[in-house]
Amino acid sequence: MLIASVSDLHTDFPENRTLIPRLAAEIYRRGARVIVLAGDVSHRDERIDRALRAFGELGARVVYVPGNHDLWFKVENAPERPDLDTWHRYHQGLRVLAERAGAHYLPSGPLRIGDVALVGSCGWYDYSFVLDPIRAALDPGDFGRKRLQGWMWSDARFIAFRDEQRALMADTDVARRMECELTAQIREVDADDAIRHVVAVTHHQAFSASVRRTGTLPWEFFNAFMGSEALGRAILTSPKMRVAIYGHTHTVGEQHVSGIRVFGTPLGYPRERVGLSPEEIIQTRIGWIDTVRFGAPSTCS
Ligand SMILES: [Fe+2]
Repeated sequence: MLIASVSDLHTDFPENRTLIPRLAAEIYRRGARVIVLAGDVSHRDERIDRALRAFGELGARVVYVPGNHDLWFKVENAPERPDLDTWHRYHQGLRVLAERAGAHYLPSGPLRIGDVALVGSCGWYDYSFVLDPIRAALDPGDFGRKRLQGWMWSDARFIAFRDEQRALMADTDVARRMECELTAQIREVDADDAIRHVVAVTHHQAFSASVRRTGTLPWEFFNAFMGSEALGRAILTSPKMRVAIYGHTHTVGEQHVSGIRVFGTPLGYPRERVGLSPEEIIQTRIGWIDTVRFGAPSTCS
């Protein structure tokens, strides 16, 4: 079985919207049965719906994990609106949208196809990817505020995860809850004897090896918001884990971590692809997993 993966489609850019039929056609031409969307389609529901349907129309099973952009509220300052809770959008709003479009909403539960299971979570960030010298040089409160000098991580304005008392949650607590939800899915498929291979999909990054480094600000400040090391530790607990797909970063990459293939193939912003022809984009921005290559079953149990 062939699984295709794309991420960070950012369909708010017309240039990206025009590429979607071409990406879908290539995935269909190669014969993928499953297409994974690893988050950041759009902050507008109608565009998420359109993208999910565009990939599903050609017959592949669409599997969707939302990214932070997809979770954004379209308001000026979501944290100041007690009626808005990003958990509600994550667990219900986007699930309903995805299922109406015929897609499998992966945060709601694993998808099993034969002896392969896909598990997934948006994941979140806990600042664990910040380099020690950068952490030492900055005020710890800068990360929670998501602001440094004139720079801002836009989740500060459009995300509002709330706890049971409707209080805003710290990013570290959001990350822990996302990790717990992913761990529950992993335990479920690990306990299923019919499943021999697991593929994890997270929007945020789970391994330091896939975090792009410059050693300079503001880049290394923004790496605080790339993901969490604990997400990776959760993924590594499964003896059946074969591949981990990520989005969020707009850098195409592939790494190997503890025997697991880890990769991201983001479309990203048009300005990040200057000089690439549409053909080169199609060739480099789709990830492929051939489950035949997973080989013999793991002897671990
Ligand atoms: Fe993202």
